[in-house]
Amino acid sequence: MKPFFVIGTRPEIIKMAPIIHECERRNIELFLLHTGQHYSESLSSQFFEDMSLRDPDMNLNIGSGTHSEQTAKALVGIEKALIKEKPDVVLVQGDTNAVLSAALAAAKLGIPVGHVEAGLRSYDTRMPEEHNRRLTDHVSSYLFAPTQKSADILRNEQVWGKIIITGNTVIDALESRLPLVQNRKTVADQIGLEKFILLTMHRAENVDDKQILAGLLSGIHSLESDIIFAAHPRTIARLNKFGLMSEIQENNLIHIVEPPGYLDFIALMKRCSFILTDSGGIQEEATAPSINKSVFVLRTSTERPESVDSGHATVVGVDPESFPKMISSAIDKGLEKSRKCPYGDGNASKKIIDAINSTL
Ligand code: UD1
Ligand code: UDP
Repeated sequence: MKPFFVIGTRPEIIKMAPIIHECERRNIELFLLHTGQHYSESLSSQFFEDMSLRDPDMNLNIGSGTHSEQTAKALVGIEKALIKEKPDVVLVQGDTNAVLSAALAAAKLGIPVGHVEAGLRSYDTRMPEEHNRRLTDHVSSYLFAPTQKSADILRNEQVWGKIIITGNTVIDALESRLPLVQNRKTVADQIGLEKFILLTMHRAENVDDKQILAGLLSGIHSLESDIIFAAHPRTIARLNKFGLMSEIQENNLIHIVEPPGYLDFIALMKRCSFILTDSGGIQEEATAPSINKSVFVLRTSTERPESVDSGHATVVGVDPESFPKMISSAIDKGLEKSRKCPYGDGNASKKIIDAINSTL
């Protein structure tokens, strides 16, 4: 079999790397295309290095732009590469614009699509990701559902592809990197923090709206704790645009830092008291037994209800009056608990390659 992998952003590099490594272990020849949606060192090359991932065979360098610009540029570029490479299967991961472009290009050429992390639904139609993942699921031949819940969603929607429950490759990625981060010094050591909350925010619905972003900051300030804020470039751009950056810089409890690479970020997740985030992947990683952190989701919905059911995640919304109270009340009840990881045992990549191998 000749798989054709498409990646475009930070989480896709992390979550696809274990599947690519699995192909390499089995001497399967593959093609790796990067759309170039993420291009900054801190969102792209740093992650190739941290995941020990080979260079892409092609980078379309599509860069930033509107959703249609990104999707259309990648669609055309991927189609050309698929015609030349003639792969047996196109693998996409998650819900970014790269995923939709690749799935469409492959489906229109009659090449089977394998969707890794299929069946997630937030039912929040403001999210561009919700459209990307729904549309991709309905053109895919292989739907690699991370959990029984996501598989049930796909069955209920009557997708025509084959549904295979695999776990999430983020656990594979995390387990493979953990041995490299033992005793790793972090930005917390540089700042001199023993105890801190780890914060990330980058969802368009949160950071592209001045009022919501200002409300999130005011709620976060009211926690009156040291916070390491690993800021995505999108968030930095919006904080500057809305004139909110100085408020953070003047606050001596919020320590805003460049987004750390994967090894540094894992080390921070292990060390922090708890996590505040609107990220998808972080809601999953928090459930890994080696991390086992409480995560407060700064959103009104989640497509990862498994993390809520397992007791790791709480969706606290974005209302600056109520979310700090929900967090404080959870802290009062105690955060350190023994909980089970709903996303598998780190063998998702093997299951994915086995499933494709057995049907191609
Ligand atoms: C994208 C995905 C989102 C995913 C996130 C992972 C879509 C619709 N969104 O959001 O699902 O959670 O990646 O991090 O596909 N920028 C840089 N350097 C870069 C890339 C972007 O500075 O390398 C800045 C630019 O100002 C750009 C902004 O970030 O306009 C947003 O980038 P974009 O790729 O459009 O979306 P993300 O917010 O990264
Ligand atoms: N991550 C990281 N550094 C950061 C923030 C996130 O290494 O500063 C990792 C995180 O551990 C997870 C992935 O990036 O594996 C999540 O990416 P992101 O939050 O950008 O996207 P999402 O999962 O929301 O699509």
